[in-house]
Amino acid sequence: MSALLTWSDSLVLNQPQLDATHQEMVDLINGLAAALAAGGDAMPAFQALLDHTEAHFAMEERWMADTGFAPENCHSSQHQMVLNVLHEVKRHALELNDLEPMRIIGGELAQWLPAHAEMMDAALVFHMGEVGYDPVTGHKAKPLSEVAISSCGSAGSCSDEAR
Ligand SMILES: [Fe+2]
Ligand SMILES: [Fe+2]
Repeated sequence: MSALLTWSDSLVLNQPQLDATHQEMVDLINGLAAALAAGGDAMPAFQALLDHTEAHFAMEERWMADTGFAPENCHSSQHQMVLNVLHEVKRHALELNDLEPMRIIGGELAQWLPAHAEMMDAALVFHMGEVGYDPVTGHKAKPLSEVAISSCGSAGSCSDEAR
């Protein structure tokens, strides 16, 4: 079967760790679709995607915390929304023996990731560049502003960016 999402230059944000992480998520989304198509137990593929997503979002949120984002910023809220859905998908599969949400979630994430990366993650990368933040060392070249950022680090308001 064809992949749900194909890695391409349009997904590249020029932040090596983030690009590698997003590439891994693309592979795991396709891995889940392949496991479901194969008809066997898809839970290991789903769990791998869930584990990845938790670590992926935690990494970005660590970078946000290090560069002055408020804990309740809307980028983090979008992450939390996705994690809530993934946990609900897992509960449906395990408790209700309902695999339908798992069949749907791959396609949903294949749409969500490029849009989220282009908007939220790109804004984070831009902000990290602005403050001269090196995620490997945690070093910041410039002092952070006094005010914590509760938007997404871009000029637009959160409400019309939410997706
Ligand atoms: Fe991301
Ligand atoms: Fe993100």
